[in-house]
Amino acid sequence: MTRRDAMIGIAAASTPLGARKAGAAELAAIDLPQPRKTGGKPLMDALQLRHSTREYSAKPLPPQVLSDLLWAAFGINRPSGDRTAPYWRHVMVIDVLAAMADGVYLYDPKALKLLPYMAGDIRAATGLQDFVATAPLDLIYLAHGERMTDVSPEDRRLYASVDAGFIGQNVYLYCASEGLATVFRGAVDYAKLARTLKLPEGQFVTFAQTVGYPKG
Ligand SMILES: Cc1cc2nc3c(=O)[nH]c(=O)nc-3n(C[C@H](O)[C@H](O)[C@H](O)COP(=O)(O)O)c2cc1C
Repeated sequence: MTRRDAMIGIAAASTPLGARKAGAAELAAIDLPQPRKTGGKPLMDALQLRHSTREYSAKPLPPQVLSDLLWAAFGINRPSGDRTAPYWRHVMVIDVLAAMADGVYLYDPKALKLLPYMAGDIRAATGLQDFVATAPLDLIYLAHGERMTDVSPEDRRLYASVDAGFIGQNVYLYCASEGLATVFRGAVDYAKLARTLKLPEGQFVTFAQTVGYPKG
């Protein structure tokens, strides 16, 4: 077995599907349409347009946009199951959670679903800025520190944060291409958010990222 096979094994053995919280049964899974993997603005045009936005319309994102956005963020782009963003040692450390008005969902890129994670509107708890409570989507980059064996707590946070940063930049470029608004965020009350999400030992939030339509 190669190291790569071993790592794929680790990732497969730690699928996020058991992560549902109490109350998640009140939510139904959302089937995402097949993501559109072609088109959009040329890369150099998207880079020209990339920027952070802090004023959002409350208008929800349609399912197709949600699917395209999540695929760009951390979807599967090869038959091997690998992703649109690179990740540490081929261990799947980051789960992408989507906090929306009715609850929190876990992005499952293989099944193309948003799986119920937690019922209720927790958007306000995802950051310290007012817009996070009313923008349609707050992504939460949740790290499974327990999957990073033989790594100090400092390095767990370092590597998980880098993984999240790559995903965040994918989101920035998708949003720039599609005229959506976004901002990657570290101004988060991490202890409060961990309590809200009822995170078990070892898991921690790296960053959050708001996505929506620009206001006005
Ligand atoms: C690690 C990191 C954390 C950030 N945290 C926040 C945040 O909590 N709130 C916010 O409004 N912007 C946040 N930003 C966005 C930066 O403020 C923004 O990228 C920077 O001011 C440059 O602006 P631009 O993205 O429009 O080029 C963060 C960016 C990074 C990379």
